[in-house]
Amino acid sequence: MKQTLTVNLGDRSYPIYIGLDLFSQPGLIKSHVKSAQVMVVTNVTVGPLYLERVVQQLGGLKVRTLVLPDGEQFKNLATEERIFDALMEYRFGRNSTLIALGGGVIGDLVGFAAACFQRGIDYIQIPTTLLAQVDSSVGGKTGVNHPGGKNMIGAFYQPNCVIADTSVLNTLEQRELSAGIAEVVKYGLIRDREFFDWLEKNMELLLTRDPQALAFAIHRCCLNKARVVSEDELESGVRATLNLGHTFGHAIEAGMGYGRYLHGEAVAIGMCQAAHLSYATGRLEQAEVDRIIRLLQSAKLPVKPPAEMDADRFLEIMTVDKKNIDGAIRLILLDEIGTATLPCGVDQPQLEATLNDYGRS
Ligand code: NAD
Ligand code: GLY
Repeated sequence: MKQTLTVNLGDRSYPIYIGLDLFSQPGLIKSHVKSAQVMVVTNVTVGPLYLERVVQQLGGLKVRTLVLPDGEQFKNLATEERIFDALMEYRFGRNSTLIALGGGVIGDLVGFAAACFQRGIDYIQIPTTLLAQVDSSVGGKTGVNHPGGKNMIGAFYQPNCVIADTSVLNTLEQRELSAGIAEVVKYGLIRDREFFDWLEKNMELLLTRDPQALAFAIHRCCLNKARVVSEDELESGVRATLNLGHTFGHAIEAGMGYGRYLHGEAVAIGMCQAAHLSYATGRLEQAEVDRIIRLLQSAKLPVKPPAEMDADRFLEIMTVDKKNIDGAIRLILLDEIGTATLPCGVDQPQLEATLNDYGRS
């Protein structure tokens, strides 16, 4: 069965398809290609598993493929250039389409290439990790990392469609599944308390990849994300709440070296730090902080900051976050489970206290 949601953005609206075996559904991918030339971009891990099946669905079109190295450490301008080189080599013009087949790294790289090449060509997201199916493939945030900061170079650029085939999650490593669950929990925390309650009861089903539980969670996250993006595409307001825990998390990813902590793992720790700070600033009750930490632990996610990252190192990196204004750190905090604040300035000593105290014993 296939579920369909829509990201409502006027004449740039697009569908998100969620379901089992969508790669084998004749005509689905092709129906969203409006050009004769297509390039499917994937990586060395996903390519051998799924590239052939996707290419098969594109019969009749002029299809090229590009297989990139795998890893967050390759989400940079050098890898981006390899996509541009291939597009130039094969004489791709404005009327062509890129297909991102992979997790969030491939999706972000390919989306950015589509945004920039000849000032914008079409692209399709085919997310293959849980994280990409619930979050990164939807909403048009594209881009690459800079050694000094996560996702510092990029563009908002929406795809033609998102095709989330949930059967591909069966080949995902368990650690990657857990990393995706971090972003799933985020939706419960920022705007969907009922979903948080559901997650507390059904975490084991997600971890054992029960197809119905996964389909429910992916649909619920995409529904939330589609609503947020439709309301605030360019993040002038509510979209910023999707960054709960990310300022801390991005500091961990950049500070520890891209790839040491998975994005979802870093976000899980960051959400705990954000919850602690929310408690320390009188917003969130301690019992709710405990529930958040327990749920993330039950998903086999780390909840304590790395010992190597002291408060000064966190602060150094957090000052280059995109939500900051004039260098002042602004964070998303929680009033309760299911209700997040918009980005707000924080008292520096209180932030330092959380960085020094939370998870340090
Ligand atoms: P990833 O893309 O690195 O994928 C994780 C690993 O799983 C990789 O080794 C990949 O090759 C492998 N893999 C992918 N699909 C597989 C499958 N079906 N079977 C087996 N292995 C598979 O990481 P991710 O967690 O998907 O994405 C993280 C990235 O997404 C980060 O760079 C983060 O910044 C970005 N992100 C972007 C947004 C956005 O809105 N654009 C939102 C959240 C995260
Ligand atoms: N994951 C953050 C966003 O899409 O806005």
